[in-house]
Amino acid sequence: MPKSAKGHSHGKIILMGEHSVVYGEPAIALPFTAVEIVATTTETVGEVTISSDFHTGTLSSGPSSIENLKVLVKKVCKTLEQPLANFHIDIQSTIPAGRGLGSSAAVAGAVIRSLYNFFDASLSEELLLELMDVSERISHGSPSGLDARIASSISPVYFQKDSGMTDLSIELNAFLIVGDTGKIGDTLSAVSNVSRLIKKVPSKSKKAIKKLGKLALETKEALINNDPSLIGSYMTKAHQYLSQLQVSNPSLDHLVNTALGAGALGAKLTGGGHGGCMIALADTEKNALHIAQALKEAGALNT
Ligand code: MEV
Repeated sequence: MPKSAKGHSHGKIILMGEHSVVYGEPAIALPFTAVEIVATTTETVGEVTISSDFHTGTLSSGPSSIENLKVLVKKVCKTLEQPLANFHIDIQSTIPAGRGLGSSAAVAGAVIRSLYNFFDASLSEELLLELMDVSERISHGSPSGLDARIASSISPVYFQKDSGMTDLSIELNAFLIVGDTGKIGDTLSAVSNVSRLIKKVPSKSKKAIKKLGKLALETKEALINNDPSLIGSYMTKAHQYLSQLQVSNPSLDHLVNTALGAGALGAKLTGGGHGGCMIALADTEKNALHIAQALKEAGALNT
């Protein structure tokens, strides 16, 4: 049997603070372990090859959409002082790509772990994040580092660029629904749009970013106080500020309004926006199922 090694990484949900986190404001993210990436590196002979939903063949012939992976695998081999040859990487994913659920960071995390396991090398948390950042810079432009951190964390986190990450212990009596618009969002373009908007209308955009940061801080308090209604109201407010930053779109607005109309305590987009997923909060499981059904009837691809 040829030598083979696996690496895993899971998805994430940003509860509060996407985009504003890029500008130094706090954010809260949850590991979404129901969806994951499994990368398997297997010994071969010759050029590096990959098999995945986005490309199957030699790594070097992959499309520009996997530039992050090309650069990452090269960087890992260089760091490990191993030749960029004689292995195949298979990537299996249950995280839909481009939906704000952290698939790019999770792919990077799983691939790095599988390569380190394959070469029997030890991988510190610090090095993992450093290598993930190489890939995320290509996928997101100027990543805050939040996606990389939550992809390797098993607990909810409160994250701020300058002060780092603290684990949050959440005992909230509520249910979170994730609704997928089915439309691919492009985090790289959403992040650069916000940066352009800040230059065009600085005062309004900077105010929205500050308000989003304040909502993340207040959400942290409301999580500690187990106050789902307050968190719901913060989520809906956050969606309004994210809309001001022009990262929502009609499909997201439609699902957010549907969830609110179906009795959600609050709802907002999650992740990069411009498509992808939204989240809604419900006080009971029965209401959560009702909201999920309403989202499906309103066109959500999945909930
Ligand atoms: C994307 O999942 C989250 C953003 O805030 C970008 C980032 O934090 O790097 C939009």
